[in-house]
Amino acid sequence: MDADKSIYGNHLEQMNQVMDRLKESMDRVRQEVGKRTGMDPVEHLLCRIKSEESMREKCRRNGLPETEESALVDIHDAIGFRIVCAFLDDVYAMRDGIAGLPGLEVVREKDYIRHAKPNGYRSYHMIIKIEGYFAEIQLRTISMDTWAALEHHIRYKKRTGGNQALIHEELKRCADELASTDVSMQIIRNMIQEEKD
Ligand code: GTP
Ligand code: MG
Repeated sequence: MDADKSIYGNHLEQMNQVMDRLKESMDRVRQEVGKRTGMDPVEHLLCRIKSEESMREKCRRNGLPETEESALVDIHDAIGFRIVCAFLDDVYAMRDGIAGLPGLEVVREKDYIRHAKPNGYRSYHMIIKIEGYFAEIQLRTISMDTWAALEHHIRYKKRTGGNQALIHEELKRCADELASTDVSMQIIRNMIQEEKD
């Protein structure tokens, strides 16, 4: 195989354009939700095209050939979005707004907020298809984002010390405490909202 050739073939430019248009649509959803609640629902919104190296590594990890077909059809996160919200309700409001966008098909959803992973990971994942391309959208609260960053960091560290079990147990405990705080923060916001109405 030609190692100089992109695994995305000649699709990169179009993928970037699709990603930019999707970002603009999400910004409009963000504004609409903000108008409704009186608060910007999004703390930050990131998007990226998976790097050549990560995509090739993911193909190998999944036993797929390093081809354009694998990268664009079998793997669904060549285009990726991460939407981080302050409050739980905002996560679901953004999800609803995105799911309702014209020309966008929701292919698969995983609610790791209502059904956390055993390690404590929480986020709402959507796989969508737009203009022939798949994209993965991860929606989460700031707490969930902070936790996922630390867990990701630890995952790629050497697992040698005798503290592994304790580290994972503590991480899980933190995830659950953060989740309970997210619920409390949402309840407080609702109470403030009710006072205003
Ligand atoms: P891949 O993990 O991407 O091969 O796909 P999958 O089918 O397992 O999808 P899943 O929805 O479980 O995960 C997709 C992405 O979510 C991952 O690539 C990570 O970015 C993120 N993610 C999932 N689980 C975890 C986790 O336990 N910790 C962290 N930090 N991130 C996670
Ligand atoms: Mg996974």
